[in-house]
Parts: sequence; structure tokens; C-alpha cells
Amino acid sequence: MTDRWHVPVLKDEVLGFLEPGPGRRFVDGTFGFGGHSETLLEAGAEVLGLDLDEEAVAACRRISTDRPRLSCQRRSFRELEAALAEAGWNHIDGLLLDLGVSSRQLDDPDKGFSYRADGPLDLRFHQQHGRPACDLLEDLDEKELTRILRDYGEDRGARQLARAIKGAGRTEPLRTTAQLTTVITESLPAGAPVNAILSRVFQALRIAVNEELTALEEVLEQAVRVVAPQGRLAVIAYHSLEDRIVKRWLDRERRDCLCPPSVPVCQCGHLATVKVLTRRPVTATDDEIARNPRARSAKLRAAEVLPNPQRSH
Ligand SMILES: C[S@@+](CC[C@H](N)C(=O)[O-])C[C@H]1O[C@@H](n2cnc3c(N)ncnc32)[C@H](O)[C@@H]1O
Repeated sequence: MTDRWHVPVLKDEVLGFLEPGPGRRFVDGTFGFGGHSETLLEAGAEVLGLDLDEEAVAACRRISTDRPRLSCQRRSFRELEAALAEAGWNHIDGLLLDLGVSSRQLDDPDKGFSYRADGPLDLRFHQQHGRPACDLLEDLDEKELTRILRDYGEDRGARQLARAIKGAGRTEPLRTTAQLTTVITESLPAGAPVNAILSRVFQALRIAVNEELTALEEVLEQAVRVVAPQGRLAVIAYHSLEDRIVKRWLDRERRDCLCPPSVPVCQCGHLATVKVLTRRPVTATDDEIARNPRARSAKLRAAEVLPNPQRSH
């Protein structure tokens, strides 16, 4: 990885919501190439960059040597409160999450994120966090694997795929991305959309291996405790599972009461913690998609944190 700053997805839209400025503190929970962090720094803000990826954090540390307002930790964003404690920050003015994998990680065969290049069947963001995908595939039974492929890959043919992957009679475990790709490809009928199916299988395994959906739920719960009143949250999701979690969470947290309509007087006592700033998710313009095809699936949702506790009406 080079230290070159790249153009981040939905850059202007993210900046518009986060409103960075001198004296304001932000956590970039998914530092990656540091593109979003750079725009926050340029606006005069202080940034704590988190990433699980070794090279992303190494680059962040290199970059931070001549950018005193940038600091870095190799941590999951699900440890947001611990990260702030380590940084000595009580609260922040905003949190950004640009979820998923970077293009560099996808292109690196050693990570095993892509079916397009042969490499170890690993798929972990951090080699000390969790078990590699090859171990997971060995340990799961066909039923459990079906559930993962169906829930995280949203694949209707999950059962057949799981059966092919578990392969009755296979003597050697699958160890490489090419072996998994071959097993899947050979199990598909002629004319099946092979690449789409492979990419859903790899997505499902990546989500499972890294517990990505749980991590997202955990960071959102912490965010309202550490983002200061009137501070902002901005989350960019690239697939519907993540976007659904953000949408549902915002929908719950913007309400004062979560009791079912049949309950005449509130019993739950829930108070709104956020004001949603994006009624619909913000998506990339055609221009941005032409420049960066990865932006096509990006969905940005943002919210302002309310003084805590406060009723929204
Ligand atoms: C889409 S990239 C971020 C790109 C970045 N916004 C930029 O402008 O360069 C996602 C990054 O999030 C990191 N990541 C994924 N899950 C994470 C987690 N739970 N905690 C911290 N970083 C994570 C990945 O390692 C990857 O570097």
C-alpha cells in the first residue's frame, strides 16, 4: 500500500453531514486508505483512525508522522469506547463507518477475499481475530453452512451450495480460494450466473468469519453514548444486510416509545437518541459511479445525536 490519498466514496456528502472543523474530534472507524480521514483533517478536525487491517494501520501511522491531528489504533470499531479510552477522549463530534473491504484488500490474494485470485481461504480482516474461513467450513455442518449462505449471502440456492461445499466423500479440507471456487463452479448447472453466486458465497463467508453484522450492531449502540449532543453519525453500507441494520437501528432510536400501538400508555420508557438526517439513503451520482464503480452500491445514512436523554417531541 502506498500513502497516496484516494478519492473516498460519497466524500462531499459525508463531509456535509459530519461538519468537521477546527477543534472537533472524529473517529474514522474504517480508516482503509485514509481518504475520508484526509478530508476531515483538511477541514481542521482531529481524527482517530481505526482499522483491523495491518497495512491500513501501518499506512495510517506513517501518514500521522506529519499530521499531528491524526492518530491510529489497530482495533475493531466494535471496541469504540475502548478506543476512545486509549486515546484519552471522553466524547467525539462524529463517527464515520465506510463498511466492508477496500479495493486493495480485495486485490490481495493473501487475504482470500476474492474468488478472482488464488490464495489461502482466510477472509479475516485481522489474522488474530477469529478463525479463517477454511476452518469454519470444516467445522460447520451442512445445515449451519446453509444458514450462513442463505442469511449472509442471500442465496436462494444455499442448500445445494452447502451440500457441494461440504462434499460427501471429500478427503482433504478446502484450503484455498481456487479450491472453493472450483467446487462451487462444478456444482452449478450450465448457464448459472457463476460470478454472482461466487461473490455472494465469498461475501457470506467474510461476514461470518469477521462477525461483521454483530460488530455493526455493537458500534451503533456505543455511538450514542460517546458522540456528543449535536454530533453526527455517518454510515456507508454496500449491501442490504448492513444497510438494513443501520436503517432499523435509526428507526428505533429516533422514537420516544417502542411499545406496540395496542399499548395506550408507554410502558417501555424508551427515549429517542438520534434525529435521522437521511429519510432515504444517499447514493452516488452517475458521475461518481463512472469514476468509481464501487460507489454504485453505496448507501449513506446519517443522524444527529440528541442531548441524552431527550424526547424528540
Ligand atoms: C471500504 S474500506 C474504507 C475506505 C476508507 N473510507 C477510505 O477512504 O480509504 C473499509 C475498511 O474497513 C476496515 N474494517 C472492516 N471491518 C472493520 C472493523 N470491524 N473494525 C475496523 N476496521 C474494519 C477494512 O479493513 C477496510 O480497510
